[in-house]
Amino acid sequence: MNKTLVIFGRQPALGLAEIESLYGADTVTPIGNHGAIIDIDPNQFDINRVGGTVKAAKLLTQLEFTDWQKLSDYLVEHVPKHTCCIGPGKLLFGISTYGLQTNQKAIERTALSVKKAVRQSDMRPVRVIPTKATELSSAQVLHNKLAQPPLGMELLLVQHGDSVYLAQTVGVQDIEAYAARDQARPKRDARVGMLPPKLAQIILNLAIGDLDAHIGEVILDPFCGTGVILQEAQIMKGFDVYGTDIDPRMVEYSKANLEWLHQTHQIGTNYFRLEVGDATSYQWDIMNAVFCIACETYLGRPFAHTPDPETLHLVMNDVNTIHKKFLQNVAKQTSKGFRMCIAVPAWFINGSFKHLSTLDHLEELGYNRLSFKHVDNKSLIYHREGQIVGRELVVLVRK
Ligand SMILES: C[S@@+](CC[C@H](N)C(=O)[O-])C[C@H]1O[C@@H](n2cnc3c(N)ncnc32)[C@H](O)[C@@H]1O
Repeated sequence: MNKTLVIFGRQPALGLAEIESLYGADTVTPIGNHGAIIDIDPNQFDINRVGGTVKAAKLLTQLEFTDWQKLSDYLVEHVPKHTCCIGPGKLLFGISTYGLQTNQKAIERTALSVKKAVRQSDMRPVRVIPTKATELSSAQVLHNKLAQPPLGMELLLVQHGDSVYLAQTVGVQDIEAYAARDQARPKRDARVGMLPPKLAQIILNLAIGDLDAHIGEVILDPFCGTGVILQEAQIMKGFDVYGTDIDPRMVEYSKANLEWLHQTHQIGTNYFRLEVGDATSYQWDIMNAVFCIACETYLGRPFAHTPDPETLHLVMNDVNTIHKKFLQNVAKQTSKGFRMCIAVPAWFINGSFKHLSTLDHLEELGYNRLSFKHVDNKSLIYHREGQIVGRELVVLVRK
C-alpha cells in the first residue's frame, strides 16, 4: 500500500495533532522531529485542508543508513533508473533533507551528480533547483513546480533514528492562496489579532476530528471577530457556519468578509449566519444542528512588553471569568460527546507559559480535555518569538 509522508510547519506539534485528529493515532507514525507517515494513499491526502503540513510526499523507501555519502551514492544510482521510464521533457530536480548530518553545499553537489547521471542515462535535460538551506522552501517547491511529478521531482530524505525515509513530494502548501485569503479580504482588524488562516484550519480540524464530516454540518464560532475561522470552514469542505460576537462592528466585518468570500471563491450553496451575542449567555438558535465549535476566544489585552505582575493578574482574572462563563453556557446547551476546539490565551512570561486557570477546572464545568497519543497537550501552544500572548489549543469533549 502507498503511504504518505508529511512534513510539518514551524511548530511540528500542531501539525502532528491535526493529522492525528483527522486520521486517527494508529494510522500515523511520527518520524524525526519534522514529519510523520500516514497509512493512506498520497492521492487521498488533501494538503489544502490542513494548516500544519507544508509538504506531502509519496513514500518511496526506507534506507537503513544515515551517512550522507552513502545516501548520495544511492540517489545517483537510483534516480536515473526512475527517470528513464517517464515521458520526454526537462526534469526539474531538487533535494530536501530533514534531521540529517549534512549541509547545503553537500546537498547541492549530490543534486548536480544526479543531474549528470540522468543526462548520461536518458539524455534528458535537467534543471537543479539549488537549496538555500538544507531543504527547499515551500515557495521554491511551488514556483518551480517541483510537486508536480513526473517532471517535477523533489526528493525528501527524513532521518528517523538509524534510518532515513526517502519520499517524493506530491503536494506543497499553497502559500499564495493563504496570503491572498488573508490580505485581500475587505475587513481586517489588528486589535482583535490576526488569526493566520493556517492556524484557523488547525483549530477547525482539531474541532471536527473526523475526515468524513458531512457537507451541510454547522460549525459555530462564538467569538467570530473578523471571521477567519468561518471563512476557512466554508472553503475547507463546504460547512455551513454560524458566527456570533459581542461587538456589532465585528459581526459587520465577518459579514463583509464572508460576502467577499462567496463572490471570489467556489463556496456553493453553503450558508453563513451571523448575530451579535455575548458568548457567556447567548442562546444559539440551532444548537442541536451545530456539529462542533471552533474558535479563537477572547485573548484579553495585547501586550507589546512583559506586563507588571499586577496588570497581568487583572487581565488573567478578567479573561478567566469570561472563559468560565462561556464554557458553562455551552455546557447547558450541548449534550454528551459534543466536541470543540478553542484557542485560548497563554501568557509567555519570563521564559515559561502561564495558563488560563479555568483549564484546571474543566471536569467540574462538564468537559473532558482530549489528549493525543503522539503530542503532549503542553506543546499545543501557537507562539511566535517575542510574543507575550500565545494561543493554547484545547480540545474538549462534553461529558
Ligand atoms: C481574538 S478575537 C477573535 C478574532 C477572530 N478569530 C478573527 O478571525 O478575527 C476575540 C473576539 O471575541 C470578541 N468577544 C470578546 N468578549 C466576548 C464575549 N463575551 N462574547 C462574544 N464575543 C466576545 C471580541 O469582540 C473579538 O472579536
